[in-house]
Amino acid sequence: MGLTHRLGGPTLRRRTILSAGLAATVLALPRFAGRPAAAADGPALRLHAKPGQAGLLPSADGGPTRIWGYDGLVPGPIVRARKGDIVDVELENGLDQPTTIHWHGVRIDNAMDGVPHLTQAPVAPGERFRYRFAVPDAGTFWYHPHHASWEQVARGLYGLLIVDEDEAPDVDREILFVADDWRLDADGRIDEGSFGEMHDWAHAGRLGNVLTINGQPPQQLSVRPNERLRLRMANTANARVFSFTLDGLAAWTVAVDGQPVPPAPTGRVVLAPGQRVDLVVDAPPAVGEAAIAEATGTLFTALGFRVEGEPIRPDPRSAPQALAANPLPAALDLADALQVDVIIEGGAMGMGPMRGSMGMRPHGPLPPVPDWGALAPRGLVWAVNGVAGHPDAPLLTAMRGRTVVLHYINATRWPHAMHLHGHHARVVARDGQEVTPEPWRDTHLVDPMQVASAAFVADNPGDWMLHCHMLEHQAGGMETWFRVTG
Ligand code: C2O
Ligand code: CU
Repeated sequence: MGLTHRLGGPTLRRRTILSAGLAATVLALPRFAGRPAAAADGPALRLHAKPGQAGLLPSADGGPTRIWGYDGLVPGPIVRARKGDIVDVELENGLDQPTTIHWHGVRIDNAMDGVPHLTQAPVAPGERFRYRFAVPDAGTFWYHPHHASWEQVARGLYGLLIVDEDEAPDVDREILFVADDWRLDADGRIDEGSFGEMHDWAHAGRLGNVLTINGQPPQQLSVRPNERLRLRMANTANARVFSFTLDGLAAWTVAVDGQPVPPAPTGRVVLAPGQRVDLVVDAPPAVGEAAIAEATGTLFTALGFRVEGEPIRPDPRSAPQALAANPLPAALDLADALQVDVIIEGGAMGMGPMRGSMGMRPHGPLPPVPDWGALAPRGLVWAVNGVAGHPDAPLLTAMRGRTVVLHYINATRWPHAMHLHGHHARVVARDGQEVTPEPWRDTHLVDPMQVASAAFVADNPGDWMLHCHMLEHQAGGMETWFRVTG
């Protein structure tokens, strides 16, 4: 078995799909955690963060691999609720280090956001914490630790949070597609020696050499001709921006980061760390094969489709209906918005004064250039507005209801996946030029040397994180926070 280890490089270890008649266990059993707001007593669901093992590789190639997971599983149990429910989950920490759960993408009550030292105390080994919160939006979300997430997520602590629409969309089946890359050694073990490696932190982050979908090697799915699927895709990798191509399938994007969009035909899905995309996918009308392939390294199959049996209906269906809208804040008030620069600096090949080459039109005084000579020895290699790591003062303070425009100024040689807690924002300008407002997202991919201006209504009171979801970048300093008052 040839391992193509390329630490820091973009190449995933190549995997061909299993040709035997293996049914994919793509659909795990959901665990319902939602309940009516009035219910009392114990939590509806318990999640036990603890060591476990998982068959990340085909068994002929080694493993199982020792991981950390919720209930010892990767992905963890699906937490499933209905729009408007109260989710009620108790975390038990069976790890030998503190942890928390962050409910990524949920416009959540601040006290339940799971950020250690900002919204709660870290949950010590052996201790418990009960999360109870309403889920205002239907959609595909996920959960993961927010303490040492660069290690805990890489070891397998994550799961999907699915919030169902009031009315289920008209599809034949739902398929989950949780993509992750793992850095495994030749024996199929998690490469622990490279945790905290500065090369990763200052470059793209921890890139893996093994791809899993739903915690397994790529599988084959048996579908009927003309079958219509809803695909819930999520990227739980520490740092890899996945690029998936759809081959032989008709597909429409129907939601991004949990928020519905007008259905648009698509043949390629780019997913930055933390992002989700919901697709409606139609199997072709004739028996044969189709595939979703991963294209950031060597092109290889991430999910194969064996189209077989009688057509599920005689003709292909027309484009799907839009999902019902979520109760996002009504209107952006761009004319009276608080304009805030988020100047991202640092990283390899970028610790010089790159600001100058960006043609920036700053919205405030320029912060001092970080003193990399003093910061880098402490593992701080990225900065936001001149500060590396958690700043004492918030990036901004907004009165509840105020429109805020964050100008993400990426003055580095690397893309960044900027994640906003407690809110969704939409890009309204790029490189200073107004654009047709883009979809609402909680995580925005900002390319090197580009400016993306993301607007949101600060309608959720509390202290919220804003950070890069390339988890080594966050740990290396690319994080800040903001306050919504009232
Ligand atoms: Cu998914 Cu602050 O993270
Ligand atoms: Cu980053």
